[in-house]
Amino acid sequence: MTSALPPVAENAAVSVADLERDYLLQNYSRSPLTLARGKGCYLYDTQGRRYLDFITGIGVNALGYAHPRINKVIREQAARLIHSSNLFYNEYQGRLAKRLVEMTGLQRVFFSNTGSESVELALKMIHSHGRAIHPDKYEIIALNNSFHGRTMGALSVTGQAKYRADFEPMIPGVKFIDANDLEALEAAFDDRTAGMILELIQGEGGIHPVTPEFAAKARELADRRNALLVADETQCGIGRPGTYFAYQSASHVILPDIMVAAKPLACGIPLGVVVANEKAAAAIRPGMHGSTFGGGPLACRTALEFLEILDELLPSIRRVGAYFHEQLQALGAKFGFVREVRGFGLMLGMDLSIPGKPIVLDAMAAGLLINCTHDTVLRFLPPYIATEKEVDSALRILRRVLSKTKPA
Ligand SMILES: Cc1ncc(COP(=O)(O)O)c(C=O)c1O
Repeated sequence: MTSALPPVAENAAVSVADLERDYLLQNYSRSPLTLARGKGCYLYDTQGRRYLDFITGIGVNALGYAHPRINKVIREQAARLIHSSNLFYNEYQGRLAKRLVEMTGLQRVFFSNTGSESVELALKMIHSHGRAIHPDKYEIIALNNSFHGRTMGALSVTGQAKYRADFEPMIPGVKFIDANDLEALEAAFDDRTAGMILELIQGEGGIHPVTPEFAAKARELADRRNALLVADETQCGIGRPGTYFAYQSASHVILPDIMVAAKPLACGIPLGVVVANEKAAAAIRPGMHGSTFGGGPLACRTALEFLEILDELLPSIRRVGAYFHEQLQALGAKFGFVREVRGFGLMLGMDLSIPGKPIVLDAMAAGLLINCTHDTVLRFLPPYIATEKEVDSALRILRRVLSKTKPA
């Protein structure tokens, strides 16, 4: 199968691509597709061609596109008040914070705009917490293969050399260990440890869940050393695993000191969040942190509506996720180059022994959007509104593409 799009779509993208090549920072390597609009689980390009979207803007568009309840709320609120800054109260920030406290089991909320920005505050909490105990208590434990974002602090705890190498030196005192290595975890913690950050399901790193034993041990050791445990739920959180957060799923029940999340919270309007217990929150006093945009009325009101809808969708996320997992496994078993299918809920990965990018491009040409992470892992982050019907359509396309894929 060729990986090129039909000429009509390619032509449509030319002028857009030319402009981007001439004027944009050349940091992205985009797929040759110009998107124009979306409806439900589908996106449409500028030529009107339809794509089933199983990557959802890397987990952001969890309710798909043009969701009537989200559209209504955005329209109403945009006409009333979009932004007011944190100099003043707005009607929705406190309400959303209360809701998030109830959902997380934690106590205090800060609103940012992105996952990276949320991780930055978690790191500041860790440093400030440690410093208040002893000036040498600033070390942070993080995991190899992790991803926590592109800002300098978030990169400092991202355990993948390819993202960090050009920007060294990073913030000092970060120790990387392998996920699920209980001995290394035990050895890494000492009295200088101020905190630990982990994704309970590594997303960018290739959809790797940490084991319940590892998560429980991290909790125990953080308590023993008076260190703050951070769950980065930017990709694996807010409904995607079939529970509100991955740390609440049956196999992972722990309570972190700090939880950070972002992506789907306001359905495409940037909104990130840090929810902390009183101990972690006490590390930030007035004036120590802030954000111009974070927690604006449009974003917060949209997020409140998203969370209402999420409550209705959780059973379906679990059911459709389990169905998709089972069907992906059955499909993968037919191809020698599929090593494993992993994940929870609607966060799934198909690990290959061959590069995944050509498969992603072939799937796109056939009308299915997915992506490839870590070179060989096909990543599926379908919208929460997907049903078995959309899963079947995605699998039909994938089966065709995989059948035409040559093993290495
Ligand atoms: C686990 C995790 N943390 C942090 C981030 C960074 O989020 P953002 O791109 O919104 O800054 C990501 C992004 O994919 C992520 O997956």
